[in-house]
Amino acid sequence: MDKFIIQGGKKLSGSVKVSGSKNSSLALMPASILASGKSVLKNTPELNDVFTMSKLLKHLGAEINFNNEILKIDSSRINEFTAPYEHVKKMRASVYVLGPLLARFGKAKVSLPGGCAWGPRPVNLHLEAMKKLGADIDLKDGYIVAEAKKLKGTKINFDVSSVGATGNAMMAASLAEGATLINNAAIEPEITQLAEFLVKMGALIDGIGTNTIAIQGVAELHSTEITTIPDRIETGTLLIAAAITNGNITLIETSSEHLEAVLLKLEDCGCKITREPKKISIDARNIELNPVSITTSIFPGFPTDMQAQWTALMSIVNGVSTVTDTIYFDRFKHVPELNRLGAQIVLDQNTAVVTGAKKLRGAKVMSTDLRASASLVLAGLVAEGTTEVLRVYHLDRGYQRIEEKLKSLGADIRRVESKEY
Ligand code: EPZ
Repeated sequence: MDKFIIQGGKKLSGSVKVSGSKNSSLALMPASILASGKSVLKNTPELNDVFTMSKLLKHLGAEINFNNEILKIDSSRINEFTAPYEHVKKMRASVYVLGPLLARFGKAKVSLPGGCAWGPRPVNLHLEAMKKLGADIDLKDGYIVAEAKKLKGTKINFDVSSVGATGNAMMAASLAEGATLINNAAIEPEITQLAEFLVKMGALIDGIGTNTIAIQGVAELHSTEITTIPDRIETGTLLIAAAITNGNITLIETSSEHLEAVLLKLEDCGCKITREPKKISIDARNIELNPVSITTSIFPGFPTDMQAQWTALMSIVNGVSTVTDTIYFDRFKHVPELNRLGAQIVLDQNTAVVTGAKKLRGAKVMSTDLRASASLVLAGLVAEGTTEVLRVYHLDRGYQRIEEKLKSLGADIRRVESKEY
């Protein structure tokens, strides 16, 4: 198992390219199942969740070719309709194959995703949407067993806005008979790109980018290609790396409109943000950052996937701030680890109350999940002395070689093999 060794205190500077979006790739890849042929997904990030999804698609019979961030998927010879536990347990997004397999082949057997580091991750909204579209859904031995001679268009109303359930419903409805209306659809940029990809495949979709999506099912879709949008969470993570070190960096091949909520909060903190087409610059040199509280919400609000990173930033800012997560009430596994670095954070239900410490001091800390480990790396960049972040396989799930990006910006960070776990 690898760990990162970080010497704190370096101010970041320079520029780096942001990788393609993990969460867009994890929706576009299963969407390729809907058509027989070769799909090409450009700007696909080389990270472990994409490798896991590739293994799952290969298990189903697809052929995968992935080089230089260009992912080619040939779905002509799919002949297996089960997503087994060994894949799904590693990555909840595997449930995304449910809709496409049902829509194209009329059957799917998908392991129920277990929980994750921060608690249960239900899929009831996915299952209710499939049932509404006419599928028979059974739960047997930890598997979702789904069958449908032909999916039928319908009205789907999501009580809770769900990225994954919206994606699954859109993909399934694209090949259903008749019209489907999805109300309270998620509008995250990754869902908007999925809808654009489906339209390029021949789907008939109106209301893209809004909470109400109208889909007219078609008999067949065809393979196509697309360039994956930049990863807005990697963008936000790197911006906070610059803010926490009072640095000055430029991120290229990224888009500011996908994370305006984070940019505005960084400006409230006192950072200077410059927005240009495909570029974002942040200048946090020679400033005393202000404590700024955040509450997460669905897009375009402050993303839950940036909550842990923001908590790390607030832990070194003079003054008290609060970080509230309304999406996942228990996504705070990073708090005890940050406190080991000298942060002063107290949890009150789904709110972290952060009293900024003058200094953090390096220590050994443990990654528990993807964004928690990102927050530990960010704290390590500014902690005095050496910080060791263990179990960086969590980070490798969702970031493409983040230590190389940080090193290129001047951070003193290196990856080493570790027997510790
Ligand atoms: C997506 O997960 C992202 N993953 C997550 O990013 C992100 O945190 C999440 O959206 C919220 O933005 C991918 O896109 C692969 P949801 P998803 O369905 O689709 C509840 C990361 O760090 N819910 O929008 O699983 C759920 O418990 C990952 O990159 C149900 O109750 O999230 C949560 O409270 C972590 N029933 C809320 O909805 C369901 O059937 C939002 O979940 C589905 C969800």
